[in-house]
Amino acid sequence: MKINPSDLGLAARVTGLTKTYGRGDGAVTALDDVSVGMRRGEFTAVIGASGSGKSTLMHVMAGLDTPTSGRAWLGDSELTALGDRELTRARRRGAGFVFQSFNLVPVLDVRANILLPFELDGRRPSRDDLQWIDRLIDSLGLAARAGHRPHELSGGQQQRVAIARALATRPDVIFADEPTGNLDTRTGREVLALLGESSRAHGQSIAMVTHDPVAASHADRIIMLSDGRIAHDGGPLPAGDVSDLMLSVEVAR
Ligand SMILES: Nc1ncnc2c1ncn2[C@@H]1O[C@H](COP(=O)(O)OP(=O)(O)O)[C@@H](O)[C@H]1O
Ligand SMILES: [Mg+2]
Repeated sequence: MKINPSDLGLAARVTGLTKTYGRGDGAVTALDDVSVGMRRGEFTAVIGASGSGKSTLMHVMAGLDTPTSGRAWLGDSELTALGDRELTRARRRGAGFVFQSFNLVPVLDVRANILLPFELDGRRPSRDDLQWIDRLIDSLGLAARAGHRPHELSGGQQQRVAIARALATRPDVIFADEPTGNLDTRTGREVLALLGESSRAHGQSIAMVTHDPVAASHADRIIMLSDGRIAHDGGPLPAGDVSDLMLSVEVAR
């Protein structure tokens, strides 16, 4: 049976996902039978100790990495049923990325960096796409910077460009892996507010990995991983409760 996750209101979904690195005595189980769905329009925070499998889960859900076993869907595509070329295409169409290290192309200006996902996908942005991108550039306060190159921008501005680039194609899900990790506290808060706003105002589904309880408190949903398993999955929580949750698994380990 072909399950269509969009019928279920899900932007991305994994079932029975296991990811093992290495073999024999040296094998590490990064994900251990994880099943979870990301609902459309939802802003999900993924928390958990270092090494608990957060990045691995994001990478498999986004089609950047393949699981050892289990299945993954992004939008209408079952990633785990695709060959390499189709997987690349599904990832380019369905996923946006925001990384800790911004990952902008140094020789391209701000506007060209934001248009890059279209370029990579070999398609021209439509007039509607271009209007949306102009709105993004304006609303992210980048209008005066559109012709600048990344090295001419502050860290916070570079991360705003990365967010604009992720939003540009209106992907099924934006995956953000510790997007505030390289920013000072205040700039980090601004970037978080922006992600929250993208989700609330534009219905963009976002999955964000974070260590920071305050960052997680911006989310509609909080998933916690512990040793490659889901240890908590629930609604929004104030930062203090997120801290307690994180401590509870640290103590139990
Ligand atoms: N490429 C890799 N090769 C071997 N082990 C890896 C690799 N990537 C991650 N791991 C291991 O998998 C586990 C989960 O890693 P990761 O998903 O990066 O956790 P997190 O993002 O929560 O810190 C860790 O034990 C890590 O050392
Ligand atoms: Mg990580």
